[in-house]
Amino acid sequence: MSQKSKILIQFDSDRHASVFDSIVAIDSDIDHLLTHANVNPDDIESLVHGAMFTRGANDLKHTALFFGGNDVTATEQLVAAAKKCFFGNLSVSLLSDPNGSNTTAAAAVLCAQNEIELSGKNITILGGTGPVGQRLARLLGGIASENKPPASIRLGSRTLKKAQAVCEALAERTGNQFLPSETNSPDSIRAAVNDADVVFAAGAAGIEMLPEGWNSIDSSPPAVVIDLNAVPPAGIFGVLATDQGEKRDQTVCYGAIGVGGLKMKIHKQAVRMLFQSNQSILETEEMYRIGIELNK
Ligand SMILES: NC(=O)c1ccc[n+]([C@@H]2O[C@H](COP(=O)([O-])OP(=O)(O)OC[C@H]3O[C@@H](n4cnc5c(N)ncnc54)[C@H](OP(=O)(O)O)[C@@H]3O)[C@@H](O)[C@H]2O)c1
Repeated sequence: MSQKSKILIQFDSDRHASVFDSIVAIDSDIDHLLTHANVNPDDIESLVHGAMFTRGANDLKHTALFFGGNDVTATEQLVAAAKKCFFGNLSVSLLSDPNGSNTTAAAAVLCAQNEIELSGKNITILGGTGPVGQRLARLLGGIASENKPPASIRLGSRTLKKAQAVCEALAERTGNQFLPSETNSPDSIRAAVNDADVVFAAGAAGIEMLPEGWNSIDSSPPAVVIDLNAVPPAGIFGVLATDQGEKRDQTVCYGAIGVGGLKMKIHKQAVRMLFQSNQSILETEEMYRIGIELNK
């Protein structure tokens, strides 16, 4: 009997399904892409049942789900609703990458690890309360350091209370400690990066998070900085979006496009891996594991 074709069903919480995610899917060796936009949690059960009950149990691994959308919380609700539909062996694999947050955080951590051993180091995440920043913190405090954690993971926000709330939620989830930092003035930003060995800038697109002068701070400058913002001006003054391990003065620099190469590889490999079984749930930590293999 001929093998079933590989069908990826793209669910998006936005009004239009992400063109970016559709193109990556088509470039990842699938046979058919079905897209659904503007999806609500209430829609999910009948849509996912359509994926689960059409082909026989032995062919379920040839159908998989992708969840995306700019509103990360809304997309996470779709994923949670989909997981509830599965029972016993009746499931299809799923991949979640709302707004590229999982693939981007995994690739950024791996870029830092290409340059420096993170164990015992001080790490600062500027814009740490956003989806990418929170996933960076999760990976850095957990899977990326396993038994050899960084000395500190500082998470910056313009509002101390917001940073504290995110740090508490992350600590509850991972069992690790995170330091909240208010970063709403040149002095407070300087304090947050003063003793950092590695700085990630994960602030909103087009926002400069680390201004000119960051590399002439009182202590020695960070060994590695990673700016995830691709929209001018740079998130870290002087870092180019295309930087991929460029040394500027004493600091190794990565920009969003420099990180993006590995991010794209992780995304495509994750789509391919969906079709290896009908049981895979690929989210933040799984993207990091996929990235380790690609990064060898
Ligand atoms: N290279 C890639 O492929 C790729 C993929 C995905 C995302 N990205 C980039 O990664 C970065 C992080 O993404 P994200 O979705 O997590 O970002 P986001 O949610 O838009 O913003 C992250 C944080 O930035 C802070 N922020 C917002 N406006 C600010 C302002 N005017 N001044 C200072 N801080 C501000 C906010 O923290 P507080 O309110 O707590 O201060 C917010 O939680 C973005 O630049 C995004 O474009 C790159």
